[in-house]
Amino acid sequence: MLSYTKFLIILAVAAAAPISGDSATNNSSEFIRRSCAATLYPDLCCSSLAPYGRAVQQSPAKLAVAAANASLSTIKAASSRAAALRRSSGGRLGAALRDCVDSLGTAAEQTRRSVAEMEKLGSPVVAGGPAAEAWRVSNAQTWMSAALTNEETCLDGFDGGLPAAKAVLDGVRRAKMYTSNALALLNVFAHGR
Ligand SMILES: *[C@@H]1O[C@H](CO)[C@@H](O)[C@H](O)[C@H]1NC(C)=O
Ligand SMILES: *[C@@H]1O[C@H](CO)[C@@H](O)[C@H](O)[C@H]1NC(C)=O
Ligand SMILES: *[C@@H]1O[C@H](CO)[C@@H](O)[C@H](O)[C@H]1NC(C)=O
Repeated sequence: MLSYTKFLIILAVAAAAPISGDSATNNSSEFIRRSCAATLYPDLCCSSLAPYGRAVQQSPAKLAVAAANASLSTIKAASSRAAALRRSSGGRLGAALRDCVDSLGTAAEQTRRSVAEMEKLGSPVVAGGPAAEAWRVSNAQTWMSAALTNEETCLDGFDGGLPAAKAVLDGVRRAKMYTSNALALLNVFAHGR
C-alpha cells in the first residue's frame, strides 16, 4: 500500500511539474506563444507581449496584466487621436468624436480597474481566501469585458461612414483587438485556477 508520505510526494511532484518543467518549457517566449493561441489575434498577442517575457516568466496572471497594460496604452493613443480631431471638427463628425472620447475614457478606467483587481491577487494585505480571489478575478473579467463594449460603442457612433475619421477608427479597432486579447488571457487565467 502507498504510504501517506509517498502519496504527498507524488502530489507535490505532479503539482510542481508544469511550473518547473525542463529548459524547453521554462521559456517565456514559448509560454507566451502557447497562451496567445487562445486569443483571437495570436500574432498581435505574441508581438505585443514579447517585450514582457522577463517580467511575465510563466505566470498566466502576470501575462494577463501585461496584456491589459498594453491594451490601456492603445486605448489612450486612440483617445488622444480622437480628441485631437474633435478640436477641428463640427457637426455629425464632431458629435461622434465627442461620444467616442467619452467611451474610450470609460474603457481606459475599466481597464485600470481590471488591472487593479488582478494586482491585488496573492497580496497578503487583502487576504480573504480563495473565495475573495475568485471574486477579484471575476471582477477583472467583468471590467475588461465592459471596456470592450465601450470600444464597440465608439465605433458604432460613426456608423461606418465618416471617412475623415478613418485614422481614429483604425486606432480604436486596434485598441479593441488588444482588449479582446487581454480578455482572452484573463479568461485563460480564470479557467486555469
Ligand atoms: C526559468 O529560468 C530562469 C533562468 O534560466 C530562472 O531565473 C527562472 O526562475 C525559471 N522560471 C521557472 C518558472 O522555472
Ligand atoms: C524559447 O522558445 C523560442 C520559440 O519557441 C525559441 O526560439 C528559443 O530558442 C527558446 N529558448 C530557449 C532558451 O530554449
Ligand atoms: C502593468 O502596469 C502597472 C502600472 O503601470 C505596473 O506597475 C506593472 O508592473 C505592469 N505589469 C506588467 C506585467 O507589465
